[in-house]
Amino acid sequence: MPTYFTLRWQEPAALRMIDQRSLPHEVIYHDYYTHVEVAHAIHDMVVRGAPAIGVAAAYGLALAAFRSPADRVEELQQDLESAAQALANARPTAVNLFWAIQRIMKLVNSQAYATPDSLRHAILALAHQMAEEDVQTNKRIGLNGQAVVPAIAGIVHHCNTGALATVDYGTALGVIRTAHELGKQIHVYVDETRPRLQGARLTAWELKQLEIHHTVIVDGSSGFFMRQGKIQLCLVGCDRIAINGDTANKVGTYNLALAAAAHAIPFFVVGPTSTIDRNTSDGDHIPIEERPDEEITQIGGVQITPDSTPVSNPAFDVTPAKYITGIITEKGIARSPYRDTLEIWTR
Ligand code: MRU
Repeated sequence: MPTYFTLRWQEPAALRMIDQRSLPHEVIYHDYYTHVEVAHAIHDMVVRGAPAIGVAAAYGLALAAFRSPADRVEELQQDLESAAQALANARPTAVNLFWAIQRIMKLVNSQAYATPDSLRHAILALAHQMAEEDVQTNKRIGLNGQAVVPAIAGIVHHCNTGALATVDYGTALGVIRTAHELGKQIHVYVDETRPRLQGARLTAWELKQLEIHHTVIVDGSSGFFMRQGKIQLCLVGCDRIAINGDTANKVGTYNLALAAAAHAIPFFVVGPTSTIDRNTSDGDHIPIEERPDEEITQIGGVQITPDSTPVSNPAFDVTPAKYITGIITEKGIARSPYRDTLEIWTR
């Protein structure tokens, strides 16, 4: 059984997070004391994965509340507005970040708290609640997903959607984990996930500890394994689902969906309903994060491209809804046409 954790509040006021940049070789935890430090940790991908960065931001606001010297509620609200802005600027694509910040800020601006201290403690209590809800949500997703996981299956998985990408248990990897716990014979084909190798480094590390059979493959080889008949299912996570079902996830997901469609292999997106953005009409309106060139031009700090080679490094891509067989959430599995179900789920 795994012994690591993604993030945890430390009394009296710190956020402890595992440093996902150094996994699997070094298991290091850092303590963060301010919302600015948490924003940097999100941006630098110490913590990553849509649900995990949402909860990290919620705790970041709790840190901002406890660090603020405000002795009037209005002053504390102002400090929190600027902290919320700093955290929201950390990464642009995963909507869970903004969802979590908005949920805390709704409480901050509710006028329900007469003193700064009562507001501070209410923010922390809500952050704890969000962390707990995340785990329960993932376990429900894991069970709901069983309707599409055969008793014996080869499954392609992209990026990392495990305990590390959430508070615990995981989303797409949670479905795989539940299938394994139920005795299904699962073999996971782990896309290495260039350029940051979340699959090779993090997913393989998690699957090893869960004792789930797996093989790491290079991203471009999934078509090869599909053609060999080794894959019966694709399960991927999501960073933002537009209301029409178009889905942003780690770059490479779209290519995987195209390969799955060509081989008539079911392709499911897995995530909590907090990843559905009812204000985004379709995938063309999802902001895509562009990350530093060095993520592509270097491997392990060693340059692999000629000097000054132009590169483009979008961290996510958008899979059009027509290539998605279904969207597995804690509320059930949505099928095409997605809009009606997604609108009801996000009311
Ligand atoms: O850039 P990352 O590592 O934060 O990207 C993560 C993903 O794309 C995951 O698939 C997604 O956030 C879902 S995590 C449950």
